[in-house]
Amino acid sequence: MDGATDTQQPQPTTTHPDGLPTGPEAYRAYTHCGSLRAADVGRQATLKGWVGRRRDHGGLIFIDLRDRHGITQIVFNPAESADAHAVASEVRPEYVLEVAGAVVARPEGTVNPALPTGAIEVDAHRATILARAETPFFPIRDDIEVDEGLRLTYRYLDLRRPVMQRQLVLRHQAVKYIRDFLSARGFVEIETPILIKSTPEGARDYLVPSRLYPGEFYALPQSPQQLKQLLMVAGMDRYFQIARCFRDEDQRADRQPEFTQLDLEMSFVGQEDVLRLTEDLFASMAKTLTAKRLKYDPFRRLTFREAFDRYGSDKPDLRFEMAIEDVSEQVRGSRFGVFANTVAGGGVVRGIKAPGQAGYTRKQLDDLTATARQFGAKGLAWLALEAGGDGALAARSPIAKFFSPAEIAALAARFDAGPGDLLLFVADSRAVAGETLGRLRAQLGPQLFPLDDDELAFAWVTEFPLLEWDAEAGRWDAVHHPFTAPLPQDAHLLATDPGAARAAAYDLVLNGYEVGGGSIRIHDRAQQEQLFGLLGYSREDAWARFGHLLRAFEYGVPPHGGIAPGIDRLVMVLAGAPNIREVMAFPKSQGARDLMTDAPSTVSPDQLRDLHLAITPPPDGPDQR
Ligand code: AMO
Ligand code: AMP
Repeated sequence: MDGATDTQQPQPTTTHPDGLPTGPEAYRAYTHCGSLRAADVGRQATLKGWVGRRRDHGGLIFIDLRDRHGITQIVFNPAESADAHAVASEVRPEYVLEVAGAVVARPEGTVNPALPTGAIEVDAHRATILARAETPFFPIRDDIEVDEGLRLTYRYLDLRRPVMQRQLVLRHQAVKYIRDFLSARGFVEIETPILIKSTPEGARDYLVPSRLYPGEFYALPQSPQQLKQLLMVAGMDRYFQIARCFRDEDQRADRQPEFTQLDLEMSFVGQEDVLRLTEDLFASMAKTLTAKRLKYDPFRRLTFREAFDRYGSDKPDLRFEMAIEDVSEQVRGSRFGVFANTVAGGGVVRGIKAPGQAGYTRKQLDDLTATARQFGAKGLAWLALEAGGDGALAARSPIAKFFSPAEIAALAARFDAGPGDLLLFVADSRAVAGETLGRLRAQLGPQLFPLDDDELAFAWVTEFPLLEWDAEAGRWDAVHHPFTAPLPQDAHLLATDPGAARAAAYDLVLNGYEVGGGSIRIHDRAQQEQLFGLLGYSREDAWARFGHLLRAFEYGVPPHGGIAPGIDRLVMVLAGAPNIREVMAFPKSQGARDLMTDAPSTVSPDQLRDLHLAITPPPDGPDQR
């Protein structure tokens, strides 16, 4: 990682008034724990870093001195310097040490080819302890098994581990790549405020009470959505921002209460322009910054309907296929009542193949059935295929008796399945069957197919529905957000069949994660008001909440659209990290706490008084942690 971060900005080395060299070269050229090589043998070097491994061989002491650039072996020989040797006798892991000495070639047989500095060592003739250290609660190395709470509490120690440092550097490189890429294409980076009016992105807002205006609150932005649209009205036709977003929602491995988006917006563009730009950006970024392979270049494209019918998800992991098949027509007349009745009632029967898994135990099948029920299915039907007599295909299953050998053969053919394969079926509405099989696919896929972390399966999912019916509230909900335009050819449906209207909205999917979402926006006031109406806002409500946007749209709004890829999720996949906390310097815990600074925390009565707030303790005790 040495020096790889700033190579695109050569600047002349200037001379400091005091005669010290300045400029990037001066900084890059300094000697650190990863820089010395065989060619440096004979030089004098001064190194500063943390004490890693220390081995006392009676006479000689060996210390691995570590900084973020690497590790250098230091040798303390009492015959060379008794003082330095005395210091080395005293140091403990994680002491901060300065060492000066001669770079020497390692003796034959002790060269370590796994280490960039493995050809040399430094014979210390002077050593100074710059800081002492307590023994950390976990060792500073890559392969540790330790409670994440401990890592987050002592995050500064956790971040000393090389793997974490590599991930932070990769994140820096990704953000820098984005800035360079977009700047070169005429985009302007503009900061938008953190204290704003509430914006709907579907989550709960974090609120900030106002001292000056009793009883009033700012909201932290769930995204800069409306502000970037206002920047388009302002004429800044190519905008981006590395934007911090705040959402109070249930935590998951790929969610944090505050996270970072590459937020971007363009005027006078259509959907294709946004997709092409984003695709160019991430395809070239992945090729430049990682050694990973793009499975689809250009990115694969699926409509929402295709994605759901084929994979049961709007963010399928496409590194494996395991497609869902619809066998409704085949089982319409089945003797198995559940199948026949479901189809007769307008439902579907769909299934997936788990190749080679016909040997699943009763317990495994019961577990899968329980999973299916968890996602709303009434049950899970299975056929474990085996070779029957006279070359025919047979099936082991409580429902096998309902199927003739010819029916089993026909079902198996749909999945290209044979003896040894396991078929799993759900009979239900299209939505429940798809969702359930999608979840089973996502759960089984990684177990059944060797997933390659070095493969990046990017895909666009397009043609999302614009609206979904909220039965509880008795109104429509925006699937993306209320500013998303319908596809032009579907706009007329808003008046007649709103649920059938498709949106000019798109998600970017990568290895099973939604890494970005965006849309072409409504820029016509009448259409925006029509949509607010469907969403259940009266004219007054709409003006009270979004008046700033509606008013701005009266002053000449260009057609516009954009996208917001999530930087944390993207870097997580590029780094091969298991969750987004691994690529954030100071993330919140799964319980949305900052364990290092202990936030959230109570504040003083004075502060509450200033903010005109009084605390009502929650009914079941004050402390939810
Ligand atoms: P959306 O809500 O789809 O769109 O968010 C865009 C992307 O942001 C990331 N993301 C998150 N990452 C980590 N933790 C979270 N809690 C979290 N929530 C979202 C995801 C997601 O794809 N304003 C629109 C974009 C637009 O229309 O231009 C928006 O925010 O990667
Ligand atoms: P039953 O007829 O309820 O005894 O169910 C027989 C088998 O069919 C069991 O393995 C059930 O889990 C399964 N089953 C029941 N309902 C469904 C359904 N809607 N879709 C798929 N399988 C089902």
